[in-house]
Amino acid sequence: MTSIQSPVDESNRAENSADGKLTVEGSTYDLPIYKSSIGPAVVDISRMYAQSDMFTYDPGFTSTASCESKITYIDGGNGILLYRGYPIDQLAENGNFLESCYLLLYGDLPNKDQFSDFENRITRHTMLHEQMHSFYKGFRRDAHPMAIMVGVVGALSAFYHDSTDINDPVQRDVASLRMIAKMPTIAAMAYKYAIGQPFVPPQNSLDYSANFLNMCFSVPAEEYKRDPVLARAMDRIFILHADHEQNASTSTVRLAGSSGANPFACIAAGIACLWGPSHGGANEAALSMLEEIGSVEHIPEYIKRAKDKSDPFRLMGFGHRVYKNYDPRATVMQKTCHEVLDALGARDEPLLQVAMELERIAREDEYFIEKKLYPNIDFYSGITLRALGFPAEMFTVLFAVARTVGWIAQWKEMIEDPHQRIGRPRQLYTGPTQRDYIPENQR
Ligand code: ACO
Repeated sequence: MTSIQSPVDESNRAENSADGKLTVEGSTYDLPIYKSSIGPAVVDISRMYAQSDMFTYDPGFTSTASCESKITYIDGGNGILLYRGYPIDQLAENGNFLESCYLLLYGDLPNKDQFSDFENRITRHTMLHEQMHSFYKGFRRDAHPMAIMVGVVGALSAFYHDSTDINDPVQRDVASLRMIAKMPTIAAMAYKYAIGQPFVPPQNSLDYSANFLNMCFSVPAEEYKRDPVLARAMDRIFILHADHEQNASTSTVRLAGSSGANPFACIAAGIACLWGPSHGGANEAALSMLEEIGSVEHIPEYIKRAKDKSDPFRLMGFGHRVYKNYDPRATVMQKTCHEVLDALGARDEPLLQVAMELERIAREDEYFIEKKLYPNIDFYSGITLRALGFPAEMFTVLFAVARTVGWIAQWKEMIEDPHQRIGRPRQLYTGPTQRDYIPENQR
């Protein structure tokens, strides 16, 4: 067993200054300010209730930092995404997914020996307990693969008692590796189950992404032709989705984990959150929109509809809550899309022509420029994933496979954070005030 490195060294929570002041109803409160290494500072309001008998109110947490983190940084205004300080495009261009996993988990890029040890440990955890095979059979034949993912990942908590003492760093590490290693196997089995094909076991001779494609697309009846360009594309897509700081599913994992819950169950909670159409489902919506537009001559009509306030239609794959610039992942995804279509001899894929023309027109249009609406990662990912051979129901599953490392890195960071407490948001109560119980015959 290799030694465990912790990504969280002594908190470098920045120079505190107490010059934050908040005046509410005539009273002034001193609130400490913590500077970040890059990006906005935060005002610490954790003692505000004790001092003022008032909560803060921030539905959707758009102005609230829920934790201190050293993992991922996003500058939405400038279109920057960094994993442990490294720009996403450099990692996607030069590295591989397992290297990014190591980086996210342990804080730095691995050297050759560290990488080969890590890869070896991941590879040796890819198989699922045989009994899990029967677990799949309990699902309806037409079950959505995300429903299977939630169930099977949650069920892992019943299988691995030796890696669920969250206070033991070695067990935390083993649970993390198990999760990253088994997720492609679980996802591929969910897919095979849904289409009625036999499960394909993992192959240790293949790398992470090639193995995943093999488990999804090979069948016992004939030889599966592996294409390194497609495996590389899959790997890049995994890198692009590996982490995105405190998004809804990551915050779900942290909140579930804050009670000390089983890590496999926490990841199942993250998968449940990711399943929602506002989170993981947008690439499917972008692909359906491109299909609906159908050809470039229909684009002006759809642009007009997107700008019409009385029409609920929006350009799917455009705009982002955080990025008010080109999503840096979209640049890599667009390139990957071209590579995949070239490798498959599908350069003239009509949907790609529609997507590129739509992007060109939208980026010259005053409405989209003024509102800072740029293509996001989902704009090209649907076309790419479909070209790789995946049906739309699998898109969110692939997202879950990739995001598992982000969830687990954030979960570990939370458990190792000395400031960690059980998550317990407050509320603005607007229900009835106290009243006496009324017997049934008097209601
Ligand atoms: N098409 C047309 N108009 C848009 C679009 C769009 N895709 N996105 C935003 N707008 C307009 C809104 O109508 C609004 O106009 P207004 O100020 O005149 O009312 C303005 O731009 C701001 O939009 P908001 O919805 O307030 O911005 P927010 O940051 O809350 O929303 C969101 C971001 C939800 C992603 C939005 O841009 C959207 O719905 N995009 C399409 C769906 C999509 O692609 N989602 C995937 C996001 S990436 C991911 O989750 C991995």
